[in-house]
Amino acid sequence: MKTKRPLVGLVETGDGSWSLYHEELGVHYRSQHGAFTESRHVFLEGCRLASRGGVWRVLELGFGGGINFLHTAAMARACGASLEYRTIDWAPVAPAILQALHQHAPPEMRPFSALAQEVTAQADPSELPAHTRSPQTYASDTTTQADPLQTHHSDLSTDHAATQADPSDLIAYAESPQGDIRLWLYPTPWQNAAIPLPSGAHAIYHDPFGPRVNPEAWGADCFAWMRQHIADDGILATYSAASHVRAALVAAGFALATTAGPVGKREITLAAVDHSVLSMYTLLSTERYRQKALALF
Ligand SMILES: C[S@@+](CC[C@H](N)C(=O)[O-])C[C@H]1O[C@@H](n2cnc3c(N)ncnc32)[C@H](O)[C@@H]1O
Repeated sequence: MKTKRPLVGLVETGDGSWSLYHEELGVHYRSQHGAFTESRHVFLEGCRLASRGGVWRVLELGFGGGINFLHTAAMARACGASLEYRTIDWAPVAPAILQALHQHAPPEMRPFSALAQEVTAQADPSELPAHTRSPQTYASDTTTQADPLQTHHSDLSTDHAATQADPSDLIAYAESPQGDIRLWLYPTPWQNAAIPLPSGAHAIYHDPFGPRVNPEAWGADCFAWMRQHIADDGILATYSAASHVRAALVAAGFALATTAGPVGKREITLAAVDHSVLSMYTLLSTERYRQKALALF
């Protein structure tokens, strides 16, 4: 598969952390007020992963610069949890850009850059040096699937997979040497990503660009797809507090809450299958946003 790599530049943000700027779209990948602060506040703290033990199952729309991934991996390691991180991105950033970006990350996060680089390289094997193109390059997401013969592509050579496979079938995969951090990248639009998560994700990071740039990622259809992939006690976090976004979440069957945003944002939105999961936040009226949804959609 030949991936369309976005043309990006590195930018320093308000809290001293670094992020990316998409030259063609004219948008930042993370808040200019503070890339790491936003990632931690909205997604990690918003989804309350640190209060869990065992395995953390995360589903992300928008891998981008991998900042959320680095943060989550470092926190899982610090908490003694293991991480299954599934992320979707139809335009993965080139691994060399990630390497440059992640050099600015705190030391405890940097080791996980190798995994981010590995999966984004697999999204376009033509960029991999020949000796690194292992037959494992396209491992299907087998965690929850019973028959490895049905689901593993490991008997295909990478070149064969690169030229023959339907892009929507491709899943890039990497794991830490310790096996505690596992990363799957689906290099495809979210509509094409077949993600095996029968027990649902504990955290959904809804992190595309804004609705002006990525309208297809902010409608009730996208949130309904996420509703199918969330655990009963899971939390979806989004940086948006727009009422049309909240209406779309309610139309998709979510209960909502809000809390203060990071610097530069008054509020963010949290969603779950039931209000009881969100009791630590300020709950929002489902009825109010249902009325809004009726008026809008
Ligand atoms: C705001 S950036 C993600 C930032 C990232 N989570 C991080 O921590 O660095 C948005 C990403 O979403 C991806 N994206 C946007 N719309 C998408 C869609 N419909 N399907 C798949 N990926 C999408 C873009 O390619 C972009 O890389």
